[in-house]
Amino acid sequence: MQQPIHEKATVLILTTGGTIAGQAQDHKSLGYHAGQTSGEALIASVPALKDLANIQVEAVSQIGSQDMSDAILLDLVHHIQKAETNPKLAGIVITHGTDTMEETAFFLNEVLPHHKPIILVGAMRPAGYASADGNANLIDAVKVATSPLAKNRPVMIVMNDTIFSARSAQKMNTTNLEAFQAPNAGSIGIVNNEHVRFYLPSFSQETEYLSPPSQAPFPRVDIIYSHVQMDGDLIEDAVKRGTKGIILAGVGDGNTSAAALKALQNAANKGVVIVRSTRVGSGFVNRNVEINDDQNHFVVSEDLNPQKSRLLLQILLANHITTPSQIQTIFSKLY
Ligand code: SIN
Repeated sequence: MQQPIHEKATVLILTTGGTIAGQAQDHKSLGYHAGQTSGEALIASVPALKDLANIQVEAVSQIGSQDMSDAILLDLVHHIQKAETNPKLAGIVITHGTDTMEETAFFLNEVLPHHKPIILVGAMRPAGYASADGNANLIDAVKVATSPLAKNRPVMIVMNDTIFSARSAQKMNTTNLEAFQAPNAGSIGIVNNEHVRFYLPSFSQETEYLSPPSQAPFPRVDIIYSHVQMDGDLIEDAVKRGTKGIILAGVGDGNTSAAALKALQNAANKGVVIVRSTRVGSGFVNRNVEINDDQNHFVVSEDLNPQKSRLLLQILLANHITTPSQIQTIFSKLY
């Protein structure tokens, strides 16, 4: 009997720039510019990808991820929404600078359904450097995108053989290959040569997600970092500039000085949404323990770091969800 021809899965690679699209001056030097290589050239430089899947490439931007913007985030959403109508598409890989990768991953996780795998991938070392990691990471990301086990999961980050979920992944080291970790939840899987392995089952039912903001820029939300001898000046300035929300990168359990706390209370009384997060790299921020959040109409970030708290608040404000109690309910919903 004739064997059915096994069709390769289709994977869309959206390129945005970053070190993975950087070129070292020579094999010994780490000096480079992120996002130099075009999307097509980047994918063409990894011929092994063609053995894994039918690769389609769309260039979204060619930037260092420090320049990621609300407009590019929305552009990514639109590329993904369009691609997901293709029934042959197995999954989507997004090449991205590592500096703000966790923010883009988290944003997409909050505003897109979780059916087909969406994976962000980058590199800590540019192409051309002797031990560049970009090609191996990209190959791993495409393996995850084609794995049936990767369906119905959160948006993922694949770096250094490790799979992380968007909510818990954090860049924790400036230069190491093992730059990403998930201090609260741990990684969710590994790419072990040919094998994509997960430690947890996938979602058994449809997960909820929010509508993406309809336009860029998103509502203004500022992050204010707490420190010794802190006054309320930056908080008052942010309010004067018309901020809609302030994320406190607080000390410890999201705390701050008496002067800064007073300024936050004044801001909340003027209708600015205050979210207490923490500058500590792990743990949850707890309601009504050191600070009376109910009385102050504050929100706590739970496990979200300041930069992810900022994006979630922006999405909620863009969806006209503005009362602290509604906002708290969504911050407290882990998945
Ligand atoms: C960037 O985030 O674009 C530069 C750094 C990196 O990709 O690792």
